[in-house]
Amino acid sequence: MTDSEIYPISGDWTNASLDAKKYAELCEAAASNPGGFWLDQATKRLDWIAEPTIAGDWSFAKADFHIKWFADGALNVAANCLDRHLAKNGDTVAIIWEPDVPTEDARYITYRELHAEVGRFANVLKGQGVGEGDRVTIYMPMIPEAAFAVLACARIGAIHSVVFGGFSADALAGRIEDCGSKVVVTADEGRRGGKRIKLKACVDEAATRAPTLEKVIVVKATGAEVAMTDRDVWYHDAAASVGADCPAERMAAEDPLFILYTSGSTGKPKGVLHSSAGYLLWADYTFKIAFDHEPGQVFWCAADIGWVTGHTYILYGPLSNGATTLMYEGLPNWPDASRIWQVVDRHKVHTLFTAPTALRALMKEGDDYVTRTDRSSLKLLGSVGEPINPEAWRWYHDVVGEGRAPIVDAWWQTETGGIMIAPLPGAVPMKPGSASKPLPGVSPQLVDDQGKALTGAAQGNLCITESWPGQMRGVWGDPERFFQTYFTTYEGKYFTGDGCRRDADGYYWITGRVDDVINVSGHRMGTAEVESALVLHEAVAEAAVVGMPHDVKGQGIYAYVTLNAGREGDDDLRKALVAWVRQEIGPIATPDKLQFAPALPKTRSGKIMRRILRKIAEGDVTSLGDTSTLADPAVVDDLVANRVG
Ligand code: WTA
Repeated sequence: MTDSEIYPISGDWTNASLDAKKYAELCEAAASNPGGFWLDQATKRLDWIAEPTIAGDWSFAKADFHIKWFADGALNVAANCLDRHLAKNGDTVAIIWEPDVPTEDARYITYRELHAEVGRFANVLKGQGVGEGDRVTIYMPMIPEAAFAVLACARIGAIHSVVFGGFSADALAGRIEDCGSKVVVTADEGRRGGKRIKLKACVDEAATRAPTLEKVIVVKATGAEVAMTDRDVWYHDAAASVGADCPAERMAAEDPLFILYTSGSTGKPKGVLHSSAGYLLWADYTFKIAFDHEPGQVFWCAADIGWVTGHTYILYGPLSNGATTLMYEGLPNWPDASRIWQVVDRHKVHTLFTAPTALRALMKEGDDYVTRTDRSSLKLLGSVGEPINPEAWRWYHDVVGEGRAPIVDAWWQTETGGIMIAPLPGAVPMKPGSASKPLPGVSPQLVDDQGKALTGAAQGNLCITESWPGQMRGVWGDPERFFQTYFTTYEGKYFTGDGCRRDADGYYWITGRVDDVINVSGHRMGTAEVESALVLHEAVAEAAVVGMPHDVKGQGIYAYVTLNAGREGDDDLRKALVAWVRQEIGPIATPDKLQFAPALPKTRSGKIMRRILRKIAEGDVTSLGDTSTLADPAVVDDLVANRVG
């Protein structure tokens, strides 16, 4: 237990616009009059075409289930991120782009330039027949054109669906199909850590399985030769014949802004749907208060725009606030483990927001890679995506931040749109490994397995009892699945899928997922997805996948595979199956360990007992618990004997 290890509000954190008293006041204001509080935030923070007069209108109850925020308001999200900054801050740098190769020039794009680029991109989309409500799939490397494409969609009211550039052609095809995109935006190739990623070729392959796809807009990024068909349009050709002026569409507050596919405990990934106004307010509000952002500071969220963290904290949150956001094409440890700190020095980064998995990988390489850099610009640190172990936390705080920079350990989810629980710098003292306290306006509750609310110090399942503006609005194409997935486990509450402990000081300690979702290097992965990929292979009869502790990735993937009769589980087949999963989903789903199992432990009713599989994967074979309900307890002995260590 490290409940008593408290790091005080840093005395060096001098530009704090929040303090403990103000934080308490905001919490009180949001709790006592949520309607007034959120209307005030919405009108103060955003530029509206029609100002809303109502805030939240929602119910989590089955009979009357609905979630709406600011329903009579109208605005345009891109105009909030661009146009409103032009008069005063047109020449402020909006995006700093740092290339993969450190010796290449960086790009600096001002708000005025970004406004023009987005307008041009929007006109190109329109030229391809894209209009309000159409879905556009964006499969791009981390280059500025990815940001242009995203904001261009917002400008014309098209719904973007960004698919991480590391996903395979199959995974991409499934996502194009699910939301019925007619247009995909991609690049010839992407670059990461000195390697080339053949994005256009992947789209070509996906197209054979995605009949809705009509047009592919291709950005020239590396200049590699790519095959162009009638379906394909070079972005630079199309852009040459359009202007930069594109009016921002008037959008209703509740109109969808984007779809982002994420993994759940069952079935295929679901398209999490976010609204225009509520989401934007959440991005704007949480960026401002969680990072206490002031003009002139350079903010670096080292995520990929293929994930929600990139959506909210590379693009929408910073740009809505008129900040300077850094977009990095490459990897934190390439060409060597100093790169991330060199980028900090090169661009005088003030706030760095990254994932524990990156920190653990860098920590392993030794302090010298860090201490040989200056880092004096770095005043605030953030951590996101998975629980940060106290050892990595202390290294981040003491070595990277030299003890002067607070760490914002931000807990949230694709579904929540933005940060929900985090220690606000200057306002909440920190405990290493704890996401600490909810943001003003967020209502976490711990419940036991029966759904009974727990008070005081307790361990339970993390729910949120009141809606918040950034809450997801639905699962694309499957409204029933939204209610079923999140509101039926504990009636009348949003269930996060996370386990959590609250200590005696009211601090929240996320303990990890309690469902069949695993968190590999900060990436969410449904075990069911990896299983589905494995059973598609002709040699495989059955598969079960569980998470296992991994010292860098947080969790690794352990797969148990039963082969069809007559197949031999040798090393070649093991390699072939690992390669198969990479091809079906992408490298992030690569199984770390794969064990051939003549049979899986099942109950008499045929249900796989995952608890046992998890224990074996962890190497904790002495406390397998009750195995008497298994149809064939001997199965377990074989699994233990042949465990892949
Ligand atoms: C986990 C990423 C502990 C959690 C923003 C959640 C965390 C899932 C933290 C969402 C944190 C995220 N501490 N766990 N600070 N942040 N998680 O949708 O299990 O990719 O449910 O969103 O990541 O992952 P997602």
